Amino acid sequence: MFIKVKKAWDTESSATDEVIYRGRREFLRKSAGYGIAAGVALYGADTLFGLSEALAALPVKERKAALSGYAYPAPRNPIFTLDRPLTDETVAGRYNNFYEFSSRKNVYKYVDGFKTRPWTVKISGLVRKPGVYDVEKLIKKFGVEERLYRLRCVEAWAMAVPWTGFPMRKLLDMVEPESSAKYVVFKTLYDRKVFRQQTIRFWLPWPYTEGLTMAEAANELTLLATGIYGHELPGQHGAPIRLVTPWKYGFKSIKSIVSIEFAEKQPPTFWNTLGPSEYAFTSNVDPEVPHPRWSQATERMLGSKERRKTLKYNGYGEFVAGLYR
Ligand code: MTE
Repeated sequence: MFIKVKKAWDTESSATDEVIYRGRREFLRKSAGYGIAAGVALYGADTLFGLSEALAALPVKERKAALSGYAYPAPRNPIFTLDRPLTDETVAGRYNNFYEFSSRKNVYKYVDGFKTRPWTVKISGLVRKPGVYDVEKLIKKFGVEERLYRLRCVEAWAMAVPWTGFPMRKLLDMVEPESSAKYVVFKTLYDRKVFRQQTIRFWLPWPYTEGLTMAEAANELTLLATGIYGHELPGQHGAPIRLVTPWKYGFKSIKSIVSIEFAEKQPPTFWNTLGPSEYAFTSNVDPEVPHPRWSQATERMLGSKERRKTLKYNGYGEFVAGLYR
């Protein structure tokens, strides 16, 4: 099976294909009814904990209605404002990067059977309170808020969306990382029955892994998102829980997280392993540092032909510049 590699690099649909192609070559080289009423009853009720399994059994539509009773839409945090219009929801939901499902932007076509509840996240490594945490319980414990953020993909497109979620900081406070922890390592589900590309492109360094320094993870901006556009995340956006670090290129915002580990050493990550000169571990948005094959000086807003100047740290310098001095 060969991956088609375009000669002329367009910075969007095929931006990462060559890296994947090289990854494969490298591999070959090395290896010759609850209904709404229940939702309302759940609001603020401890019974949610016992109902997780029951909700999981509901058809998607009813489950969404039930869940919207307690988490969505969430109150908007007024600190985070936008300098541009919100991206249309359909546009944002039909132009996704989620390589486990598809190496093209048509991820929405593959997510129908993606079962995201119940869902747990394993917390491990250098941490005082390791364990397996249920996502619904985390939502209930921390509460969620809506934040309007820009997201800038390394492929030079951008969007502006309302995420719903809780700050990573709340999770850190709960699980108490050891002082020896220097990095947080995030992993996406590895399940070849769920993600067809983990079989088709088996040579890629699955599971998709990303990492942050502890200071980055604790930054006010760092969000664990569970929703978007006022409802729970659809599969293509990384249901049921994903990272959002809006000052970094979008590939750092890992989707469908099942594991968070605290480590002393910088972890190998998916894109950095495949293309270290293209996808640095830190990867803060920077108009002055071009990708080896295209400029990062401007970006295209999804759903429009408008090009905007790329902002350093994607415009979030007031929150994060201090991390890098
Ligand atoms: N997370 C996983 N697990 N797999 C992926 O392929 N793609 C990343 C990131 N998170 C990706 C991922 C990239 S390249 C981008 S730009 C964003 O998700 C896109 O997020 P969106 O589809 O919600 O816009």
